[in-house]
Amino acid sequence: MGEVFVHRPVLQREALEALTGGGGKRFLDGTLGGGGDSAALLEAFPSAEVLGIDRDPAALRAAAERLEAYGGRFHAWHGTFSRLEQALDDRGWPDVDGILLDIGVSSPQIDTPERGFSFRFDAPLDMRMDPSTGATAAELLNTLSAEELADIFWKYGEERFSRQVARAIVARRQQHPWERTKELAELLERVIGRSHQHGLPPPTRVFQALRIAVNHELDELSAALRAAERRLAPGGRLVVISFHSLEDRIVKQFLQHAALQCICPPGMPCTCHKQVTFRILTRKPVTASSEELTANSRAACAKMRCAERTDAPSEWMGRSVKRL
Ligand SMILES: C[S@@+](CC[C@H](N)C(=O)[O-])C[C@H]1O[C@@H](n2cnc3c(N)ncnc32)[C@H](O)[C@@H]1O
Repeated sequence: MGEVFVHRPVLQREALEALTGGGGKRFLDGTLGGGGDSAALLEAFPSAEVLGIDRDPAALRAAAERLEAYGGRFHAWHGTFSRLEQALDDRGWPDVDGILLDIGVSSPQIDTPERGFSFRFDAPLDMRMDPSTGATAAELLNTLSAEELADIFWKYGEERFSRQVARAIVARRQQHPWERTKELAELLERVIGRSHQHGLPPPTRVFQALRIAVNHELDELSAALRAAERRLAPGGRLVVISFHSLEDRIVKQFLQHAALQCICPPGMPCTCHKQVTFRILTRKPVTASSEELTANSRAACAKMRCAERTDAPSEWMGRSVKRL
């Protein structure tokens, strides 16, 4: 028996319905997690194959065990979804009929104290989804300038006390380098207090911001959307489920641009040669039903957007993928 890895997928029925129109031969699950969505895809499309990507080796192990019964129909790839083209090349798949991105952290990541994602436990300040690579949260706190830290807290957490917090972090590290979640949570309780947080515990926003910075989450998403445009077959479906407004905005703006026929200034003759690369299938994001909300409070912030690839060439063809 492997490690216990329990993650309840969000908006799964809606995501499967959205992916159904895409042809259903080859799917890429860019956020494999515990394999719940991949299992549902393999069940719903009995002759389809799924390539599952995750940057977290613990998730890959759990999913590989769970999906063993599907034999050669399931393939796992360790890495980030911004590099989904490498994963497809390694498998020899030129394109896919559906791409699912259920972004964010999984329940096991948040609930495993030593991963350092949560201020509910005292643990090393790590927060890397892939613990084998990249800088930890502690390393960011110990090396970035007060301005850089304030920027992260404001941009990724909308923390109103970003500057005060950043200054306090830099002052504190002159005595002791940052190491533990508890130490950071205590400083945030002191500097932020409870006054403006709309009921959120004071460390919430800074912890979220640090997690996004440690894992380059927004750059990852932007790069994956472009890669998806390059590698979805005509008629293929892209489904993205996101959990906060920064991510949803990136998806919305990407799809709005992709769906435009022309980007010339209004009133000018068209010279842009823009082509529609995606047809948007969800004008408004799909949110969880009341039944799902009752069963899973994590679904409350989830927003799903879906689009269908046209046969126009990708606008991002030939542009190199930024290495993250
Ligand atoms: C919300 S969970 C997905 C759960 C999954 N749909 C299921 O059914 O269990 C998100 C997963 O995506 C992974 N992840 C997040 N960002 C990633 C990235 N940029 N590249 C690869 N994996 C990523 C996380 O490690 C986590 O396991």
